[in-house]
Amino acid sequence: MDSPAAAVIPAVYGASDRPPRGDYSRGGSVQADYTCPQDWASYTAADHDTYRRLYERQAAQLPGLACDAFINALPSLGVKDRIPHFDEINERLHKATGWEIVAVPGLIPELPFFTLLANRKFPVTDWIRKPEEFNYIVEPDVFHDLFGHVPMLFDPTFADYVQRYGAGGIKAHELGAGEKLSRLYWYTVEFGLIRQPDGLRAYGAGILSSVGELQHAVLSNEPRRLPLDLLRAMRTRYKIDTYQSNYFVIEDFAQLFDLTAPDFTPIYEALAVEADIEPGVLLPGETGKA
Ligand SMILES: [Fe+2]
Repeated sequence: MDSPAAAVIPAVYGASDRPPRGDYSRGGSVQADYTCPQDWASYTAADHDTYRRLYERQAAQLPGLACDAFINALPSLGVKDRIPHFDEINERLHKATGWEIVAVPGLIPELPFFTLLANRKFPVTDWIRKPEEFNYIVEPDVFHDLFGHVPMLFDPTFADYVQRYGAGGIKAHELGAGEKLSRLYWYTVEFGLIRQPDGLRAYGAGILSSVGELQHAVLSNEPRRLPLDLLRAMRTRYKIDTYQSNYFVIEDFAQLFDLTAPDFTPIYEALAVEADIEPGVLLPGETGKA
């Protein structure tokens, strides 16, 4: 691992008057790649209780709404009544798919994020929301990152997709297309839906870790649902502070892996001359009922 960075710069996404949340100094323990030790000793009894209550509430509403891969892998997170040690999860995760989770102090910039994914390391914020943020938090915390993301990394095909996404991200960053590519992450890894034989289900972490969005994404007639198309998804802007007004649906995880096999350079060239699409807007010929 690299030597500790003297000053690791926190990431800010979008316009915000607030300083980014999280302690990026940690007494010099944050590395140049933004990883740090999980500060498990600093969790209070209230922190563990927040995790336990979030886990319990969210697990109860998964049947019929979360995809099978997620439900089957959730027990691999281990303990439910306190914040787990990342090392314990890593023993199981590494055996399953060769991935590991690494602690980070909060959101990290684009290139280090892509680089970690390309190396099969998933960054997990190690702090948890305050009790008064139980129902809603703007930034990802340890509950969103662990509960929402990590079970899917136990699925070999999905795990390969995320690694391929990271490798593509490094290239996109060099081409100045990182923001466009990040929309693909948003509409798959964060807010993706999959059509199982028994119906529509969620696989995106932003849905799976949200108390209200699971029902909205899978069952509500309100949002538009479109078949996943790379260009369409990467043209579509997104909102970070409301439920999504459109979702993209896949047929299986191999589709994600296959879609991201080609070189994206021609797609970025096409995107450069195509206008962005506002969330929730349908183009001619689209029904929004995928
Ligand atoms: Fe996330």
